[in-house]
Amino acid sequence: MSFPTHRPRRLRRNEALRGLVRETRLTTAGFIYPMFVCPGQKVKKEVSSMPGIFQQSADQIVDECREVESLGIPGVILFGLPEKKDARGASSTASDGVVQRAIEAIRKAKLNLLVITDVCLCEYTDHGHCGVIEDGEVANDATLDILARQAVSHARAGADIVAPSDMMDGRVGAIREALDEHKFENISILAYAAKYSSGFYGPFREAAESTPQFGDRRGYQMDPANAREALREVELDLEEGADMVMIKPALAYLDIIRRVRDEFDVPVGAYNVSGEYAMVKAAVQKGWLDEKRVVTEILTSIQRAGAEIVLTYHAKDAARWLKA
Ligand code: PBG
Repeated sequence: MSFPTHRPRRLRRNEALRGLVRETRLTTAGFIYPMFVCPGQKVKKEVSSMPGIFQQSADQIVDECREVESLGIPGVILFGLPEKKDARGASSTASDGVVQRAIEAIRKAKLNLLVITDVCLCEYTDHGHCGVIEDGEVANDATLDILARQAVSHARAGADIVAPSDMMDGRVGAIREALDEHKFENISILAYAAKYSSGFYGPFREAAESTPQFGDRRGYQMDPANAREALREVELDLEEGADMVMIKPALAYLDIIRRVRDEFDVPVGAYNVSGEYAMVKAAVQKGWLDEKRVVTEILTSIQRAGAEIVLTYHAKDAARWLKA
C-alpha cells in the first residue's frame, strides 16, 4: 500500500509535528569549544582565517570561559602557543607552560566546565611535527614519553580529560600508564583515534602556529581514502585504554563516524575542524550562505552520523541559537 494511503508530508505540516518526529535533536550538551592560549596578559588576537576565534592569554581565556559556561556548553579544549619552541617540545611538559597556567586559571575561577587538553608536540616543536625527529623521520617510540609527561602535567594542573592528537602508535597506552602511575586514574582519555591527514587543518595551523617546517603529516596521520583502517585505529586505542574516541575532520568523514558508532559501544566524538569553519565563515561574509541555517544543518549532520560529542568553533553561536 502506498499513495494515497501513505503521505509522508502529513508529518511535515507544521513545526510542532516536525519537532515531534525529529530523529536528531541537536543539543548544546554535546558541544566542546576549542580555544588557543598564548603567553602574556590581556592579549586577544583574532585568527585571520577564523573570524571570531582568537589567540588569547590566560586571563582572556577565563573571561571567554565564563561566557561558554553561561551558554550551557559543557567544556572547552585548549591548545597552547608556547613562548619558546625547540626540537623536543620541552615547554609542553612545563608546570608553568601556557596550557598548564590556563587550566589553573580556569580552575581558580571555579567554572562549571570540563577542561580538555590537546596532547601533542606540533605546537611546541620548532619543526612543527607531532613527534621528535630522529634520522629525518618522526620517531614514534621516542615521542611517547614526552606525550605521557605532557598529559600528566595537564592532569596535575587540573584538566579533566586529555586528548592525544599526535597519531603516534601506542600513545594512549603510554598516557594511561603514566596517568595511573601518578594517581590520575580518574582522568579520562578522549583519543583522536581516526585522525586523517587533511587539508582542512590549514587555518588551525595559522591559529596554533604549528605548520610543519618540512614534509607533511602523511607518515603518521591517516590516508583519507581509508575507512576500514579507522576501525582498526579505534579498536587499538580502546584496547590501550581510551575512554572515548574521536574522528577528525567531521564533514568529509561522516561515513567513518557512522561506522565507528555502529561498531563500538563507547562515546564517539567528531572534530568539526578549522577549515570546515573557515569555509562557512568566508561564504557567509560574502553573503552566499545563511550562517544559522548551514551551521545548524552541519552540526545536525555530525550528530545524526553518530557523534554525540562535537568539537566545534561554532559552539557559542549554535548554543545561542538553540537557547533562543
Ligand atoms: C595537533 C592538532 C591539529 C588539529 C587539532 N590538533 C592540527 C594538525 O594535526 O595539523 C586540527 C584542528 C583544526 O583544524 O581545527 N596535532
